[in-house]
Amino acid sequence: MDAFSTAIRVASHEQHTEAETSTFMSDLLGGRLGVDAYARYTEQLWFVYRALEDAADSLRDDPVAGPFIRPELMRLAAIERDLSHLRGPGWRATLTALPATRAYAARIAQCAAEWPGGYVAHHYTRYLGDLSGGQIIRDKAERTWGFARKGDGVRFYVFEQIANPAAFKRTYRELLDAIAADDLEKQRIIDECKRAFDFNGAVFRELGEQFPLSA
Ligand code: HEM
Repeated sequence: MDAFSTAIRVASHEQHTEAETSTFMSDLLGGRLGVDAYARYTEQLWFVYRALEDAADSLRDDPVAGPFIRPELMRLAAIERDLSHLRGPGWRATLTALPATRAYAARIAQCAAEWPGGYVAHHYTRYLGDLSGGQIIRDKAERTWGFARKGDGVRFYVFEQIANPAAFKRTYRELLDAIAADDLEKQRIIDECKRAFDFNGAVFRELGEQFPLSA
């Protein structure tokens, strides 16, 4: 196959467009939803990143997933700061996962426990996206709801320890290209990446149902 980093990007391209143009994302980034919808979305991210990052310790020495575990990517603490800004200090008490979020986080946890290659698929789908389109979302969120630039509310999108995201993404793609997996396993990882996009789409659909445009 082509370089694995190319293959996985090309294979998920169509679903990426679907995610970008989903009703919920378009409404959110179009400034048509209130900050409550943004907070609800951020709450869902908490469950996703807890599943991704709870696995970091057990996968650090894994030959397939280990190279991807990087402290500068960790998002959970940033999400928690955003949530205490968005929801107040009692944010944990009202935090709930949508059904689609529960299924998504459970699948990540299952991959983390049983299949490091699958975990890489989920890792790629989230972190490389956050380093890319995440910056567009941050800019829109700052303008729409008045968060301080790179401050509380949008810290999830700010990778304080990554000075040069473009260079980091290049290195990440090199890690993908060097992954300790044969072609069949690479194809399975690509299939899992498509599942990861499906999970994100399902979360967006449920969020869209919870925050319909009334006007
Ligand atoms: C409105 C929302 C979104 C926007 C505006 C957006 C935009 C972008 C942009 C501009 C890139 C850069 C491509 C490059 O580096 O050449 C990118 C890459 C990426 N995005 Fe998104 N994105 C959005 C939503 C999502 C979602 C929901 C996911 C999945 C959860 C996602 C996953 C990715 C991934 C994995 C990449 C890296 C592709 C690669 O280079 O291998 N994005 N996105």
